[in-house]
Amino acid sequence: MARAIISVEDKKKRVAKSAAKKKNASARKSAAKKHHLRIDILTAVPELLNSPLNFSIVERAKKKGLVRIFIHNIRDYAKGKYKKVDDYSYGGEAGMVMMIEPIYTLITKLKKQRKYDEIIYLTPDGEIFNQQIANQLSLKKNIILLCGHYKGIDHRIREHLITMEISIGDYVLSGGEIAAAAISDTIIRLLPGALSDETSALSDSFQDNLLSAPIYTRPADFKGWKVPEILLSGNHDKIAQWNDEQSLARTKKLRPDLLK
Ligand code: ADE
Repeated sequence: MARAIISVEDKKKRVAKSAAKKKNASARKSAAKKHHLRIDILTAVPELLNSPLNFSIVERAKKKGLVRIFIHNIRDYAKGKYKKVDDYSYGGEAGMVMMIEPIYTLITKLKKQRKYDEIIYLTPDGEIFNQQIANQLSLKKNIILLCGHYKGIDHRIREHLITMEISIGDYVLSGGEIAAAAISDTIIRLLPGALSDETSALSDSFQDNLLSAPIYTRPADFKGWKVPEILLSGNHDKIAQWNDEQSLARTKKLRPDLLK
């Protein structure tokens, strides 16, 4: 076979193209680097947050410097020998309430160190979390997530220090930690550079108020259960069209409320 002869001009063009590509990649990298998110999580049970925020995409985003997560033990700000953070409620309602002072001391200390975009309290009576709120929060620089425990926190914290209240669903968790982990994870995967394939966060379910299309991997035929033929065709336009149709059909069937 005749070998292609590459002219000096062609070579120059190729070198220039590859240099431009490299420059582009590094510009994207530094653009991604510019947006750091800092999340301060305030909890009386820091152990609950150990593993969800130390693995997988979140861990990779931390290593890349896209996000910094600081977990603060509210108990460290409690007074007295027993470091008490909860007390009986006025009015005698059953259940303990998280005391105002340790939380106030911790939030005030953090606010003196930097400006926070949002101070968020995780609570079942907050605004229901969704992808849109996650997108907004992923653009912030500094956020605090305050986890309640027991019956909740002294209401004066909510009145005077909290800027936003979020629930992750209409059910009651034992504390806000699992909600804080869910919210952090959702936000962090949206940070530019957190996912290896940058487009994949955009094709997530809910990103356009649509569920995503079904996905498959090898083998193409497992005991007679076949992957849809179109996905094996190599025709990218047709595949994209199929994905859009599936996405819409699944949303209509499973979550028609998203289309309203
Ligand atoms: N704390 C307890 N239940 C919660 C919920 N559903 N969402 C957020 N924080 C909570």
